[in-house]
Amino acid sequence: MEGDDHPRSAFGAPPPGGNAGGPAEPDPRRSLEGAAAVLRVEGLNQYYGGSHILRNLGFEARLGEVTVVLGRNGVGKTTLLKSLMGVVPVKAGSVKFDGGDITRATSYDRVRRGIGYVPQGREIFGRLTVEENLRMGLASKPGGTAIPAELFELFPVLRQMINRRGGDLSGGQQQQLAIARALAAGPKLLMLDEPTEGIQPSIIKDIGHVIRMLADRGTMAIVLVEQYYDFAAELADQYLVMERGEIIQRGRGADMEADGVRQKMSI
Ligand SMILES: Nc1ncnc2c1ncn2[C@@H]1O[C@H](COP(=O)(O)OP(=O)(O)O)[C@@H](O)[C@H]1O
Ligand SMILES: [Mg+2]
Repeated sequence: MEGDDHPRSAFGAPPPGGNAGGPAEPDPRRSLEGAAAVLRVEGLNQYYGGSHILRNLGFEARLGEVTVVLGRNGVGKTTLLKSLMGVVPVKAGSVKFDGGDITRATSYDRVRRGIGYVPQGREIFGRLTVEENLRMGLASKPGGTAIPAELFELFPVLRQMINRRGGDLSGGQQQQLAIARALAAGPKLLMLDEPTEGIQPSIIKDIGHVIRMLADRGTMAIVLVEQYYDFAAELADQYLVMERGEIIQRGRGADMEADGVRQKMSI
């Protein structure tokens, strides 16, 4: 795709091969790097004061795939996403995104380049309305950019609640709002930190469907941090298990059960 001004769906370019007529143009990332890896993390280390929190993490997230990061409390999952988002500066290692090195980029620049982030605990603005919260997701876009109508198709409840304050929504509705806010700018990479935490089962199911559908379009990579094994296993194309700041196991989502990941999570 050309520049940011090219008109397109709110959620990025159409899937590869979806062009009418003629052979599909080769994806430059695919031909250069062998796979459509939109995110590449190498040798990532992170510290809080003297504590070594992340140890030599390396992985890729590919377009069209859900990469699940599993691990119990305190293993460094949130620190990983904050590092990828530039919320905490990376101490060592590199982060490449969509053909560029973003290791030292500001959070704002990462959003502008196409990373959407749904933080743990949602962090919506309780005193702002749903509409105002969604507009916050457009801060990296030119003024006057409309809220993509597609967000209300993904999360119809947000249309009903458009003038309510964020703080008056249920936990599940707030989670949907946080995801919609992250999607507003049309990211190529969506990172979600425990989106099922404290949410009722029916909304967890809806959120799962949306995540699968977004990935299946093939134009977005999704990194999903979870502790809820069944939800993670259902969505995972690729999985990573973290323990004490390290990736101790990884594989294809389809192999999670056979690989014994469930047992690892329940200990
Ligand atoms: N701001 C901080 N300052 C110091 N230590 C922190 C901070 N945030 C998290 N930690 C510590 O870093 C480790 C990893 O935390 P975190 O990334 O939140 O793990 P997870 O998301 O997997 O539960 C934990 O030991 C936690 O206590
Ligand atoms: Mg966490």
